[in-house]
Amino acid sequence: MAFDLAQLLSQRRGENFELHAKYVNPQLANVLRTLGFDRFYERGEGCYLYDDEGREYLDLLSGFGVFALGRSHPVIKSALHQALDADLANMVQMDCALLPGLLAEQLVARSHAGIERVFFCNSGAEAVEASIKFARAATRRSRIIYFTHAYHGLTMGALSLNGSSEFKAGFGPLMPGTVEIGFGDLEALRRELLAGDVAALIVEPIQGKGVFELPAETWRNIEDELRRVGALLICDEVQTGLGRTGALFAYEHYGLTPDIVTVSKALSGGYVAVGAMLTSDRIYRSVYRSMQKALVHSTTFKGNQLAMVAGLATLQVFDDDDVVAHSARMGELWHLRLGELKEKHEFLHDVRGRGQMIGIEFAAPTSRAALRRWRLVESAREAMFSQTLVVPLFHEFGILTQVAADGLNVIKLLPPLIAGEREMDSFVTALDELLTRAETSSEWLRSFALTMTKGFVGRSKKKRDVAAR
Ligand SMILES: Cc1ncc(COP(=O)(O)O)c(C=O)c1O
Repeated sequence: MAFDLAQLLSQRRGENFELHAKYVNPQLANVLRTLGFDRFYERGEGCYLYDDEGREYLDLLSGFGVFALGRSHPVIKSALHQALDADLANMVQMDCALLPGLLAEQLVARSHAGIERVFFCNSGAEAVEASIKFARAATRRSRIIYFTHAYHGLTMGALSLNGSSEFKAGFGPLMPGTVEIGFGDLEALRRELLAGDVAALIVEPIQGKGVFELPAETWRNIEDELRRVGALLICDEVQTGLGRTGALFAYEHYGLTPDIVTVSKALSGGYVAVGAMLTSDRIYRSVYRSMQKALVHSTTFKGNQLAMVAGLATLQVFDDDDVVAHSARMGELWHLRLGELKEKHEFLHDVRGRGQMIGIEFAAPTSRAALRRWRLVESAREAMFSQTLVVPLFHEFGILTQVAADGLNVIKLLPPLIAGEREMDSFVTALDELLTRAETSSEWLRSFALTMTKGFVGRSKKKRDVAAR
């Protein structure tokens, strides 16, 4: 029988949460059902998702940054159709294929002058794993420093560089030779470098968890300290890279010249998993130092031709549509529009980020009545206030957003880089309305509680239905 995707999707339509609860991740299914986020999305296009009831959702998460060019971009789609139709000789392994060479050439050409080589892999975490090995090999030192709140992925090495304890608990012992220091803490960095055993400092130029930034001068001091002792700077651009912050790489904002750069998400064109680690010839040769060592670091799917085509087509759209400049322009506009809301709403405390990577922080208001409501919400759970916005943003306004991290009252926006003023208007209008409600009455809290209760009851009912089968 021929495989028929359309038939499969139509026959099993709507079973998605049940299947996940049974076979994939029951707790995630529980969380999403409780929030009432259990939908059957049928289609995605540009900045929007469409569910089986035909409802439209503005996607301000873009798959955690994967859909830089939006969903179902026609150029990437056509490139992948072309690749499939060409019956490419994929992953011959005993071969040096053309397309990985071409994509590497493009990435090197777009990086700072010290970047000369590219290692391809399948994900952000894998690119980070590569960076740990290359930094250790190149310096013959073992220790890697990372910042509090850092997020570099969840594989064992990357997890060992995670600056939030909740991700690490229960998975030890982690990789030895790692040190956490405060974000931008120069004194701590100097102290750790004194021992002479630090291979590298790994950083996100703008931290994803909370959208935190450092002044350019601090970055320059950090780079100087590292250079002074021969330690490497790894810029993890898995999220910030490829235009997200209004520059091709976020390190450009601060004039940094990292020794190693990791990229992933956006390079996929939203279709094919890919990761890449960019570095210098010198660092590359410390790993691949002889013919015997030609595959000493490798992975089966490196240079997967479909991923390479998606990457090449993505970069071409970046050029043709001037995507990075658009992202920078939108960043300025986001700050302007959200800055106006900040003036108006006492719950809105800060607007951070650059380009289309935006953090909106909420904090205790000053007026008595609003403060009472804030305390009520926050007494239920730390950093609950932002959740009371994320839920109605989705249900009432059809806007998908997320809280930036556990314990932080920050909503993080990662719109597709192609998002424009229409999308911004939708979000700003919705947030304005919700904050006005939160400041003027407790009604918003009652409707939040009602949504959660409905989600909880729905979840319990679905559990009983499944058990009864
Ligand atoms: C900065 C950064 N590094 C690494 C990763 C891990 O990437 P992946 O989820 O593809 O393993 C992420 C994922 O969000 C990230 O934001």
